[in-house]
Formats: sequence, structure tokens, C-alpha cells
Amino acid sequence: MHKNRPENPFEIRKSTASDQLKIANIHTKAFGEKKGPEIAELVRGLLNDKTAMPFLSLVAIEGEKTVGHILYTKANIIPAMASVSAQILAPLAILPEFQNKRIGAKLIKEGLNLLKETGVELVFVLGHPGYYPRSGFTPAGVLGFQAPYHIPEEHADAWMVQELGSGIIGRIKGAVQCSDVLDQPEHWRE
Ligand SMILES: CC(C)(COP(=O)(O)OP(=O)(O)OC[C@H]1O[C@@H](n2cnc3c(N)ncnc32)[C@H](O)[C@@H]1OP(=O)(O)O)[C@@H](O)C(=O)NCCC(=O)NCCS
Repeated sequence: MHKNRPENPFEIRKSTASDQLKIANIHTKAFGEKKGPEIAELVRGLLNDKTAMPFLSLVAIEGEKTVGHILYTKANIIPAMASVSAQILAPLAILPEFQNKRIGAKLIKEGLNLLKETGVELVFVLGHPGYYPRSGFTPAGVLGFQAPYHIPEEHADAWMVQELGSGIIGRIKGAVQCSDVLDQPEHWRE
């Protein structure tokens, strides 16, 4: 018998305009000195990018502290598949001292649940192939979804997809188009 574990000490909620500095701080610290400021700027841009809408921006709060952030933004599949609603997960970050506490996994899961409720059917991510499959993602290229920029063969598994309903994968294929702000080659290099 397992002992009852205490409830998760952190809360997840949608971000508001007043969270912007805290969100920038999380990305700056999580991605490090070199890449951090670039990612923080990417998030600021995406939150103000009309082509990224509708987006879903969630923060994780532990006690009084904002410790994690995830952003999902609008994607399109070309040729236009009017009936398919898609999003891209980018970026996700947890403050270094709060990593490995399942906060990232919970942010992904809560985001996917909320997106599913709003009718989103496909979610893409370019990320660690050792991490995202734990949350249900699977390589997207072999399923017929091209990333907005070429992903070198050796990193092909980093471009992943997850369907939130059944029967989308296999029926739909095409090139994935992201929002204007994300549509820069530097955001598509591993
Ligand atoms: C990657 C990140 C979001 C994970 O969040 P987290 O809350 O620490 O992760 P979780 O607690 O949900 O999961 C922890 C597990 O994932 C593994 N993991 C973490 N980062 C990983 C990576 N880059 N590749 C493979 N596995 C990874 C951990 O080793 C741990 O494994 P275990 O369960 O076997 O011990 C977080 O480490 C982070 O912010 N990193 C810096 C920014 C970043 O790389 N963002 C993702 C861009 S794609």
C-alpha cells in the first residue's frame, strides 16, 4: 500500500498581463544566459502576435512564486484544412530550482486538456525527444507533417505531434505553418 501523498503544492492558471515580467524571468533563468533573453523576447512577441491567436498561456505558481510557464499558439496546416484546429507548444520552462517536480508535465497536461475542450485537434512541438513522448507526443515527420523549417535528419524525432481526438493522424497531412513571430529560422534550430 502506498501512503497518501499530499496534494500538489502548486497551482496552474492562465497568465495575465501582470505576469509578463515573471514569465520573462522564468525563461531567462531556465534557458540560461545565452538563449534565455532570446526566448523571453520570443514569448513577449508571441503574446502580442495576432497570428498566434488564439493562444493558451499558463503559469505554475508554488506558494507566492511563479515557477513555470507554457505557451501554445495557433498553427495552420497547408494546404488549408479548414476543419483542423492546430496549435504549437513553444516554449515551456520551469525555474531551475523547481525542475524535476513534474511541474512541466502538469503544465503540458493541463494545457492539452484545455485545448481539447476548445476543439483543438493537433498539437505540435519541437523539443527534446526524450521528454515530450512522456506526455503523449510522437515524431511528426514520419506521419506526414512538415515543420515550418527543415529539421535535419539527425534531429527528426524532435519534431513531434499529438492528436487530441482520434482519427486525425493518418487522415490529414501537410506543412505546418506557425505564427509570424515564431516563423524565424533561429526558433527552429535544435
Ligand atoms: C525541460 C523542462 C521544461 C522539464 O520540466 P520539469 O518540470 O523539470 O520536468 P518534469 O518534472 O515534468 O519531468 C522530469 C523528467 O524529465 C526528464 N527531463 C528533463 N529535461 C529533459 C530533457 N531535456 N530531455 C530528456 N528528459 C528530460 C528529467 O530527467 C526527469 O526524468 P525522470 O522522471 O526520469 O527523473 C525543464 O527542465 C526546463 O525548463 N528546462 C530548460 C528549458 C527547456 O529546455 N525547455 C524545453 C524546451 S523544448
